[in-house]
Amino acid sequence: MLSLGIETSCDETAVAVVDNNFNILSNELYSQIKEHSAFGGVVPEIASRKHIEKIDIIANLSLEKAGIKVKDIDIIAVTVGPGLIGSILVGLNFAKGLAYATKKPLYPIHHIEGHILSLLFDNNLDFPFISLVASGGHTNLFLVNSIGNYTLLGKTLDDAAGEAFDKVAKMLNLGYPGGPIIEKLALKGKNCIKLPQSFIVKENLNFSFSGIKTSVLNFIKNNSFKIEDLCASFQNSIAETFIFKLQEASRIFGVKNIALAGGVSCNSFIRNKISEFAKNTGKKLYLPSKSLSTDNAAMIAAAGISKHSRDSINFPFDFTLNAKSRLNI
Ligand code: KG4
Ligand code: ZN
Repeated sequence: MLSLGIETSCDETAVAVVDNNFNILSNELYSQIKEHSAFGGVVPEIASRKHIEKIDIIANLSLEKAGIKVKDIDIIAVTVGPGLIGSILVGLNFAKGLAYATKKPLYPIHHIEGHILSLLFDNNLDFPFISLVASGGHTNLFLVNSIGNYTLLGKTLDDAAGEAFDKVAKMLNLGYPGGPIIEKLALKGKNCIKLPQSFIVKENLNFSFSGIKTSVLNFIKNNSFKIEDLCASFQNSIAETFIFKLQEASRIFGVKNIALAGGVSCNSFIRNKISEFAKNTGKKLYLPSKSLSTDNAAMIAAAGISKHSRDSINFPFDFTLNAKSRLNI
């Protein structure tokens, strides 16, 4: 069985073909980074327009790379939220048109479930596990009971972790997206600047990243420093916060296995630090491969496969499907 995944919730136009054994036949993507970098963040109107220009090109490329024709697809899966409404609408309407023309079932996918299921490709998952999804738009901690059964344990009350990377990079005039740039500079720096860990209260599993952002801003204004050291110290503080929350959730719920997914899970320093923590505490750690950490359509196609195997729908699909900028998992 072949699933065509479509993802346009932010600044990546992505289409992938995945089979029911979670083999990736193609995973194509147009990244709009260069369109947005001058603005230090994603400009929603530019993102929507670019998706319109690219979606059919990327879809055709994805089919071609997979060596199949559109008639060979069995199901279609598309991100319906959360994300930028105009961007999601481009992918969703493309998917609706395709589903209507090919008479294939169309599965609406929650973007964050996609990130969790990016773990299906490179891990043998034992349930339950605690999963932290840290991206540019979200920082959510889940108890994953099984595929499709998620309990939200905590979330950010202000900025997302990836957003904090992006904003700190902007303060330092380093460019967009901030995560990869900060990671690279941190390699040449030392964790020698004292910054607070990014949580407000230790008693619950929520996150807050606005405090560390303000600390970094104050530090920049009042001190002379090596940018590399600030990057290393900031990155370390984020990693410690992740570990603290994963450890707390694992202790409270008595769950040994932990996971990190989403764009920030691409960061090697954070991956290594959490791996070390998992090793030292006898926990199993699940990570997506780096190429599947940031937004992609393979994870959406995989979510479609798992939805289809749980409660398969037939054509015609729900024509009233709509994009949602906010959406509970
Ligand atoms: O999951 P994602 O591609 O998109 C959203 O769903 O938001 O995540 C993008 C975020 C950006 O904020 C970016 O700075 C961050 O992930 N990111 C990183 C790294 N690569 C991407 N953060 C830290 N280190 C990285 N290497
Ligand atoms: Zn994402």
